[in-house]
Amino acid sequence: MNVAELIARFEQAFGRRPAFIARAPGRVNLIGEHTDYNDGFVLPMAIDRDVTIVGAPRDDRAVRLHSTNFGAEALFSLDHIEKASTNTWSNYVRGVADVLQQAGLALSGFDGVIHGEVPIGSGLSSSAAIEMATVMAFAAAGAGGPSSPNLDGVQAARLAQRAENEFVGVNCGIMDQFISSLGKAGHALFIDCRSLDYALVPVPRGVTVLVVDTDAPRSLAASAYNERRAQCEHAAHAFGVRALRDVSVETFERRRSELPNLIAQRAAHVIHENQRVLDAVAALRAGDVATFGRLMNHSHDSLRDLYQVSSKELDAVVDIARSVPGVHGARMTGAGFGGCAIALVEDGRVGELTQAIERDYPQRTGRQPKVYPCVASDGASWRWL
Ligand code: GLA
Repeated sequence: MNVAELIARFEQAFGRRPAFIARAPGRVNLIGEHTDYNDGFVLPMAIDRDVTIVGAPRDDRAVRLHSTNFGAEALFSLDHIEKASTNTWSNYVRGVADVLQQAGLALSGFDGVIHGEVPIGSGLSSSAAIEMATVMAFAAAGAGGPSSPNLDGVQAARLAQRAENEFVGVNCGIMDQFISSLGKAGHALFIDCRSLDYALVPVPRGVTVLVVDTDAPRSLAASAYNERRAQCEHAAHAFGVRALRDVSVETFERRRSELPNLIAQRAAHVIHENQRVLDAVAALRAGDVATFGRLMNHSHDSLRDLYQVSSKELDAVVDIARSVPGVHGARMTGAGFGGCAIALVEDGRVGELTQAIERDYPQRTGRQPKVYPCVASDGASWRWL
């Protein structure tokens, strides 16, 4: 839906003109998987698919939202925010409102039409996008007044993560909200998930990031995610450090026999993956796409074999992609257990890769893939209409 259509929807739903448009993107992670909650390094980019809120402030403390995706409306008061058991999509908005207020910000109510073009439940962070779009909508609704949340992009991401952890109840790291907040067109973001320092790294010209949605349910994702986190904490504790970020590859290889086998295997992924991110950033800065692609491949193989969060569908996409000339690397992206894989491919080979996936993936898995070329895009923003 374009902006004119969203404005028309708003007018239809609320009988007045909207005043602002707020938006935030989904993301793919190029490399650095399951490292964020180990205080490590990640390299995501924001994609050209947004959650958008078209809205207008209200004089009272109500938030009334119409969702185009769900064809439903949610209404709540900023004075009494509770988790909803129907219209659960509104919990991301409620959660953000709740944490912003807990952080001492005085919010204004608003009416809004919310529209998501980040595929839901595909591992492209539609939830971070709705959270960051909500932060922007509250900034717009209170703008100019004493209630305007005056947050920088890092604080905004931290609060959105807190909403997801504490209100929605998903124990994610900081990566998704951070990139949705601070992404920049044409760039990936190298993030140190401990210090929250970050640096832009240009995505090289001549290559495309192709996203392939496996269309496979991510049923095990939440429990396996929490189990992996606990295993990483176990390893960090055994090594006497705060997080696996503090263990170098050399130290790990010397001391790995101190850990039970499975824990050592999980730690091996995280510790080597952190190093791969550093190497990948150096390769990208040097314009060495081939090395970058190889590191993506190593990342996937490690997630499949050591961290064991891939799936037969993700592996199928990766295998097919790697067999196409002009593909530098391919890997799963996000938490795993279904969701999306990405391939880094020469621009001139996008058509060939798309065809190979559309031909071979259904044969191998019985499922229909969805293929989207993605462009590195800007993080969350709002403006007056
Ligand atoms: C999910 C979480 C992120 C991160 C990735 C794995 O996307 O939300 O915080 O942990 O999984 O890298």
